[in-house]
Parts: sequence; C-alpha cells; structure tokens
Amino acid sequence: MIERKLLFSPGPVITTETVKKAALSPDICHRSPMFEELYAKLRKDIVKLFKANEEEYLSVVVSGSGTASNEMILSSTVDQEDKVLLVTNGEFGNRLKDIINCYQIDLVEIKYEWGKYPDLNQIESALKNESKIKLIAVVFHETSTGMINPVGEIGKLAKRYNKLFFVDAISAVGGEDVNMVRDNIDFCTGVPNKSVAGPPGLSFACVNRSAIEQIKNVKRKNIYLNLQAHIKFAEENNQTPNTPEVVQFIMLQKALDELFEEGLENRIKRYKKLSNMIRQDIRDMGLKMLIDDESIMSNTVTSVFLPESISVTSFIDRMDREGYVLYPGKGPLLDKNMFQIANMGHLTEEDTRNMLDTIKKILQSSK
Ligand SMILES: Cc1ncc(COP(=O)(O)O)c(C=O)c1O
Repeated sequence: MIERKLLFSPGPVITTETVKKAALSPDICHRSPMFEELYAKLRKDIVKLFKANEEEYLSVVVSGSGTASNEMILSSTVDQEDKVLLVTNGEFGNRLKDIINCYQIDLVEIKYEWGKYPDLNQIESALKNESKIKLIAVVFHETSTGMINPVGEIGKLAKRYNKLFFVDAISAVGGEDVNMVRDNIDFCTGVPNKSVAGPPGLSFACVNRSAIEQIKNVKRKNIYLNLQAHIKFAEENNQTPNTPEVVQFIMLQKALDELFEEGLENRIKRYKKLSNMIRQDIRDMGLKMLIDDESIMSNTVTSVFLPESISVTSFIDRMDREGYVLYPGKGPLLDKNMFQIANMGHLTEEDTRNMLDTIKKILQSSK
C-alpha cells in the first residue's frame, strides 16, 4: 500500500476524498453522448477558470501532462519561418525554449537569470526590431523560482504590436489572477494537478476564437498535439481526436466543481493566506528567500535557501520521513542549497503549521 504523505510540492497535490472517489464512476465510452455532455461542461468551466467567456473563447483538454498542451500551442500556432519572442527567467521558460527549438522555429529569446524580473523596455525593443515575430510567449508563474512575470504588461505590448500572445499558466491557474480577456492572452495553458487540486495526467488550453483565423494555415507538424484538430473535434461534437483519459476528465470535473463551490477568489485567498503563514515563519527562522518582494511572489510557491549546516538532499529526505514532501530547487538554485515549499491543493492551516514546526525541529537538530 502507498503511505499517505502531505504534499507541499508544486504538483501533484493532495486531492479531496471526493475527487478521488470520482474515479470510481461507472465506465463510459468516449464516443457516446455521456462523454460529450461531460466534455461540454468541462470545456465551459475551463473557459470560466481563465476568466474568459464562451462567445469569444473556447477550451480543449489534452490527455497528456502540461508539456503536451504547451507543445500543442507552440507547434500549432507558428510556421518555421515565423519568429517567437520568448521571455525566460527559469526552468519552465527554458522548457518552452526546448519545444521551440525542437520544432526548429525561429526564436528571439529575452533571457534573464533565474528569478530576475523581466525588463519591459527590452521586450518592446525586440518587438520594434523583429517584424517577423508572430507570437510572444511567457510563463505566468515561473514555478522554479516562485516569481510572477509581468503578463498584464506584456499583454499590452502584444496588443500594441499586434502579436499573438501565449501564456503558460500551468502553475498559476486556480491560484493567481489569470485573466485572458483583460491581459489580451490568445492561448493559455493549465493543468488539473496544481492549484485546481485535481489529479495529474491531463492538461488544457483556452483559446481566443479571434486568433484561430491567424493560425488556420499553419503547417501541421504532428498528429497528437495539433491544436486545430483538437478545436475541430471539440467544437463540432465535444469530442477529442483520440481516446481521452476518460476517468481523469471525470476527476477534473469534480475538482472544478469543488473549486467553483469554494469560489475562485476564495481559493486564491486561501492559498495566499497559507503562503503568508509560510513566509512569516521562514523569516522568523532567519532563512533567506530567493524572492522576498510581495508584489512579484506567487501565492503558492516559496523558494528558500538552507543554511550550510544541512544539504537540500538530506533535509528533503528527513522531511519525507516525517511525512512531508518538499521540493528541491532546480538547476543553478539547487547548487545554492535552495528548496521549495508549495501550498497548492487540499492542505489546511493545521497541516501547514505542523509542516513548519517540523522544519524548525530539523533545522534545530542540524545546527
Ligand atoms: C510553469 C510550468 N510549465 C510547464 C510545466 C510542465 O508540466 P508537466 O510536468 O505537467 O508536463 C510545469 C510543471 O511543473 C510548470 O510548472
């Protein structure tokens, strides 16, 4: 049997018993009206999750983790001779870059150190200098650092320079103020297994209908991840091009029902309260954080440097033995002895308090 641990990791996250039980629903065939009804409702709720409306936006669900939806958007919206302007300041910006390079799409990268806030003037001058840029891409919440990128400001530039705008909101949607309409976002991706508090395995994308005209002649580069095919099947019959992860669709619907019952804004407030609690204690413990400016810190991920007396690996290991799953930093930040605490999913204040007390205990004993 699998031992129960509290996941303070940025996905997968703890789901409620009711979301887990939704997996025990009767089996349904995906080529049936029952599935179509389920998918229609899911698609509606996903549009709502991105604070969009169904007249101007649509959504599709992909049976594959977040990377699948990111790859679907990047491979389906530009041709190889188009350019993509990509802002990177962490691991997940780099992963978008990998996809762009893999499809041999021309890239204009505005690159920053991990955890450095982007300079809008630099982005604007790239837009002025490179007329072949068709799409701007950025990660909303750079999970590897816990920083919120200036999506609203970049969205204004996208509108001013008449560019398509893609935002990877995989670790943001359900936990941050993701608003496709206000921020001029044309393509936005998310997953169930982070702030939405659903299971891992699926991802979804919300699309501005007015952008579809601009991508309709893009050359098809793959089979499974072609956005145009997903849109066609979804819009014609609430269907998917291939066999979907039906059980996960049912679980995602339950997770969204619970999110909207709580209220999106209340969910965000609840996450913010937990991260404030974590940050207060981390400061009280005398530990430094990678980002310590409220205005750009996410509501769900805190990046913390450990003292030299204990390594991230042994700290994470000891926390795990106490029943808490924390996350090691990635890339250059792991070399700096950084770990991350996430507060997404079905976690309570009491869980968080106990987790923080356990950190204190371990740090005391390793002095
Ligand atoms: C911002 C962001 N983008 C993309 C991904 C990749 O998603 P997946 O591992 O589900 O493919 C992650 C995963 O943590 C993420 O946080």
